[in-house]
Amino acid sequence: MDKQYKVTVLPGDGIGPEIVEEGVKVLKQAGKQFGYRFQLDFGLVGGGAIDRVQTPLPQETLRQCRDADAVLLGAVGGPDWDQNPPELRPEKALLDLRKKLGLFANLRPVQCFPGLEESSTLKKDVVNGVDLLVVRELTGGIYFGEKYTEKTGKGEKATDTLVYQEHEVERIMRRGFELARKRRKKVTSVDKANVLESSRLWRKVAQRVARDYPDVELEHMLVDNCAMQMIRRPAEFDVIVTENMFGDILSDESAVLTGSIGMLPSASIGEGTKGLYEPVHGSAPDIAGQGVSNPVATILSVAMMFRHSFQDEEAARTIEHAVINVLAQGARTMDVAVPGDLALSTDQMGDRVVEELKKRQ
Ligand code: NAI
Ligand code: MG
Repeated sequence: MDKQYKVTVLPGDGIGPEIVEEGVKVLKQAGKQFGYRFQLDFGLVGGGAIDRVQTPLPQETLRQCRDADAVLLGAVGGPDWDQNPPELRPEKALLDLRKKLGLFANLRPVQCFPGLEESSTLKKDVVNGVDLLVVRELTGGIYFGEKYTEKTGKGEKATDTLVYQEHEVERIMRRGFELARKRRKKVTSVDKANVLESSRLWRKVAQRVARDYPDVELEHMLVDNCAMQMIRRPAEFDVIVTENMFGDILSDESAVLTGSIGMLPSASIGEGTKGLYEPVHGSAPDIAGQGVSNPVATILSVAMMFRHSFQDEEAARTIEHAVINVLAQGARTMDVAVPGDLALSTDQMGDRVVEELKKRQ
């Protein structure tokens, strides 16, 4: 009997549709090989949704996502909507979707794949062997705190608020420790406890949770130091657990370690197995429509979908190994090609991964 799952697919804007098409190819092929029957349901999100139905996250899309076992998303945004008011911004859809689906943990694995050391702007021996996981808190902190602008006698005054509750820190911290247990058993909790009250709570909770995981080593690191260590000695990190904004910034920084942001996948998960899977990068309007974008981040996000939402480690690893193998054979899209490489188009790269998967049936 085939395993049956509902997957909602939200291609979004810019390069979103082209990379998602490759992700779906891989989802279907892996599904065929590992005995799945998928019901794929396509929906509107972001700028395209604003243009058609005047809201970045239509009710229908939210319903499709609530009904699904997993969501695959491309990217949203672009210059057409940059001047829109906050409620009509494409990114609003992502914040709302994560919050409404209760997806509080954002997992961003960063690996420097063999053969891609040359593609990073960092020295080869620095990025060699990098294999870290950023666990970012996704539904709290300054992005969700109270915000407002006031007029004062001395001009405008703008306020953002950074709030964390103990239970929010605790659940993300436990997630980090659980994941570390299956990896190299080290958690780096990143905060700014020398200055921020919310960080002092963060650190206290980290210490308390750590007692339940005596097999996992806990270290604390201030975020500014972490930003430096991440490019100085990145191979020493295993699992980094951090709050929303720090995680946003650190995970973009970590893209440098892999050669391109086009290589970085992500999963947003909550208490259950439902998850939202998307590349870390945005809609890349500068290259949209040219068929040159790198679909690997989306394909690796599909692997994460098998791992977390379908609890299928074997299928996840098979997809990851197919990607590693085609990269090792020299397959490169433009963003990771070095002089002398013949760069592949988006769909050629997707096809190469599918062919590699077929060899493993
Ligand atoms: P971006 O990630 O879209 O692009 C940054 C740079 O990386 C660009 O030079 C782009 O060409 C390149 N790039 C990104 N993905 C690539 C891929 N798969 N293959 C090859 N090259 C790739 O970030 P940017 O330019 O800051 O933002 C563009 C738009 O995307 C904005 O409207 C922004 O708001 C939105 N955005 C959306 C996100 C999402 O949907 N999750 C996340 C980040 C930004
Ligand atoms: Mg970001």
